Amino acid sequence: MAFMRFFIKSYGCQMNLYDSRRMADALACAGYETSADLENADVVILNTCSIRDRVDEKVFSDLGRLRVIMEKSSKDILIVVAGCMAQLRSKDILRRAPQVNAILGPQNIHKIAVVIDDLIKNRAMDIIVTMSMDTGGKFQSLFANACGRESVSEYLTIQEGCNNCCTYCIVPFTRGREFSRSVSDILEEARNLVASGVREIMLLGQNVNSYSGGNFDKQKFSLAHLLFELANINGLKRLRYITSHPKYVDQDIARAHREIEILAPSLHLPAQSGSNSILKEMNRGYTQDEYLRCIDLLRSYRPDIAFSSDFIVGFPGETDWDFEQTLKLAKKVRYAQAYSFKFSPRPGTAAAQMDNQIPEKIKSERLLILQKLLNDQQTEFNKSFEGSQLNVLFTKEGKHKKQIVGRSEYSQSVSVYANTTFVGDMARVRITEVASHSLVGMLE
Ligand code: SAH
Ligand code: SF4
Ligand code: F3S
Repeated sequence: MAFMRFFIKSYGCQMNLYDSRRMADALACAGYETSADLENADVVILNTCSIRDRVDEKVFSDLGRLRVIMEKSSKDILIVVAGCMAQLRSKDILRRAPQVNAILGPQNIHKIAVVIDDLIKNRAMDIIVTMSMDTGGKFQSLFANACGRESVSEYLTIQEGCNNCCTYCIVPFTRGREFSRSVSDILEEARNLVASGVREIMLLGQNVNSYSGGNFDKQKFSLAHLLFELANINGLKRLRYITSHPKYVDQDIARAHREIEILAPSLHLPAQSGSNSILKEMNRGYTQDEYLRCIDLLRSYRPDIAFSSDFIVGFPGETDWDFEQTLKLAKKVRYAQAYSFKFSPRPGTAAAQMDNQIPEKIKSERLLILQKLLNDQQTEFNKSFEGSQLNVLFTKEGKHKKQIVGRSEYSQSVSVYANTTFVGDMARVRITEVASHSLVGMLE
């Protein structure tokens, strides 16, 4: 077993990256070794996503590629499909990819080492399928497995699952009901991360700002409370959190942005649409005005806060007028960065069954227009820093010799030429060159 090497490929969001990291921890603790590439691994784990249809198809094409590798090398590779798509489409996976040995839903990833041990002990055994929705149980076991990490910046899931029912979204079906981890567990994990050299923590949750964790004395803690607690950890240089829902933005979080020095002045606040009737059909729970009030509230406490967002174009029934409202909203906010997607009907969601679906061609046209606007806004935002200084936390070496790369307080990627010993440090950088997606600077 000591010579078994594993490779994990992650698809989708940051939460999957966190889960993959924890699976790697669990396997390392159980004596498995990592493989630098998929081709040389004995165990391949695909940690899948199902947010849009293209992501699903990518997993099937990777499974096909694995089959070819196995045939060519006549090597037995153990294949595990984990994550959101595993939860939703286990039957399709077994039908289309019979070479798969185990299927693990996202709340079952802590079982990975036991599952692989079982598969190794009995190669002829049936396929293992495990789909429990016990999120609390998962975190208890993951915590016991922690092996320590070395990066400068790490994710930390504090809340998982979702009690909202946005009509387009598959996540409530894959990750289950909302679950918040306890404050003491989160603080302990954060302290361990910092002790192992981590300098930036990004807190994760599907609705991270609806976090409601139990405390030592049974008091309920909000995200703002938790941020104030985390900010006391010695050696931690920066805190971020993602993804926030506009419905739960409140004064406490705005105050946290003014008072906590290490809390980055940037916020990902997905709007999805600017049209009130589409927002209602999406079941988002806010209007354009209410969304803009959140932006104003946060800017009144922290004027330089940089906003990013997600948008969906071509939601069923979206008219030209509705789409115009999305453009108007983006122009009012002036985003530092934003993602936009064509609506993708997900089987089993309410929006997939709506009868006024938008033709692909119109979706593509609208996407191009919105992406151009958002790209221009990003370039304009970045250009505004030419010649000025930013606080950069250096996270890794760059592609070129003696180049190091990091992120500014506004989440921009910044590179400088400097000694690699600066990785892990935060420094003032004067910006000398600006491209739309990255900045170049000099250490002050
Ligand atoms: N919990 C977060 C988002 C999770 S999914 C929130 O509430 O905002 C990440 C992004 O994927 C969403 O913000 C949305 O823009 C996009 N998305 C989700 N379902 C989609 C679908 N069916 N079609 C297209 N984009 C979708
Ligand atoms: Fe999906 Fe909406 Fe929940 Fe976000 S809030 S995960 S978009 S259902
Ligand atoms: Fe994808 Fe699941 Fe994340 S569907 S976006 S991996 S929560």
